[in-house]
Amino acid sequence: MFGTPIIRFCYKRVAKPIFFRQDPEDTHDRVLGMGKLFSRSRLIRKATEFKLSYQHPMLEQDILGIHFRNPVGLTAGFDKNAELTKIMPAVGFGFMQIGSITGEPCEGNPKPRLWRLPKSQGLVVYYGLKNDGSEAIAERLKNQKFEIPVSTSVAKTNSADTVELNAGINDYAKAFRLLANIGDMTTVNISCPNTHGGEPFADPVRLEVLLTELDKIETSKPTFIKIACDISTDELDALHAVADNHRVNGFILTNLTKQYDQPTIHRDEIEGINKGGVSGKPTYEASNNLISHLYKIAGDRYVIIGVGGIFNANDAYEKIVRGASLVQLATGMIFEGPQVIGEINKGLVELLRRDGFANISEAVGSKHRKL
Ligand SMILES: Cc1cc2nc3c(=O)[nH]c(=O)nc-3n(C[C@H](O)[C@H](O)[C@H](O)COP(=O)(O)O)c2cc1C
Repeated sequence: MFGTPIIRFCYKRVAKPIFFRQDPEDTHDRVLGMGKLFSRSRLIRKATEFKLSYQHPMLEQDILGIHFRNPVGLTAGFDKNAELTKIMPAVGFGFMQIGSITGEPCEGNPKPRLWRLPKSQGLVVYYGLKNDGSEAIAERLKNQKFEIPVSTSVAKTNSADTVELNAGINDYAKAFRLLANIGDMTTVNISCPNTHGGEPFADPVRLEVLLTELDKIETSKPTFIKIACDISTDELDALHAVADNHRVNGFILTNLTKQYDQPTIHRDEIEGINKGGVSGKPTYEASNNLISHLYKIAGDRYVIIGVGGIFNANDAYEKIVRGASLVQLATGMIFEGPQVIGEINKGLVELLRRDGFANISEAVGSKHRKL
């Protein structure tokens, strides 16, 4: 990691003002295009790594038999079609999640479907699971060797055809099966707020049926469930009680929020949008509270991946001391720049030293042990 302050300055003062003046989805597509181009050159990947990546032995962990060089991952939704698997390790991520990938290819919802909320430090997301579908993505990845652990996030195709219970389950199962031997972890996303039929598998009875079917698919990859931001602790208890009887190794807390009336969301920024879920800072507190709750009741039974509103090392550390072994982000990188991943990892080492921990795993859940 070399020259981060200069990159931060260039991103915030030059690139971001240009990006933020353009249509959010077009900008995202352009960044993806650049990422794909950069991926092709070993020299550019090495230079990116030299400039951005920060690694340290204190950040390494072995979790569920998988080695993580650092706890900071790319969250689902940034690389929906698994096109950035070569460049993201160079940016400094410790792992990445691709997707969400649905059984069938999916155009997503009609545009516009992405808005920036600069004052609220979030995005309104109404993509509706746009992606190339499980067959194309499995084909794209089948011979790839990944430099960092990869989690394939699977979800139900956003279409009227998958609203019926069995059709929905078959769709999940198709994506799960085709990706069962690709990457290191699978995430079952039951919390997309923007699709036909809502979030049917956030209901414990339906989740039970879904997980029973997924249990039948052979895989050596650990399975995570991704949970909505706006659920109560009682609802989380009900979901993890279902998970207890199935092949579930962890939870990702959380997805987007639909709580538009919360104080972190500036009303003037969302006026007239009336759809979609919000990412970034508005998800931060709710995600933290659910992490604390699950860690307190389940301890080490589940691996917790904390996501929502991480913009700096303190944000990431808060999720870790509350019980997350790993964290993920997307909005923080869009607002702060790609150097923020290295900055977070470097800051985490400083916070671990400050608090007398020898390794990141010692800090996991430490907030509850002190109380
Ligand atoms: C543009 C965008 C697209 C997203 N798409 C997905 C998705 O396909 N699947 C999913 O599980 N989460 C998706 N999310 C939610 C994120 O993975 C994450 O849970 C949420 O944004 C909170 O993290 P953040 O504040 O770091 O962005 C998306 C988020 C954004 C910003």
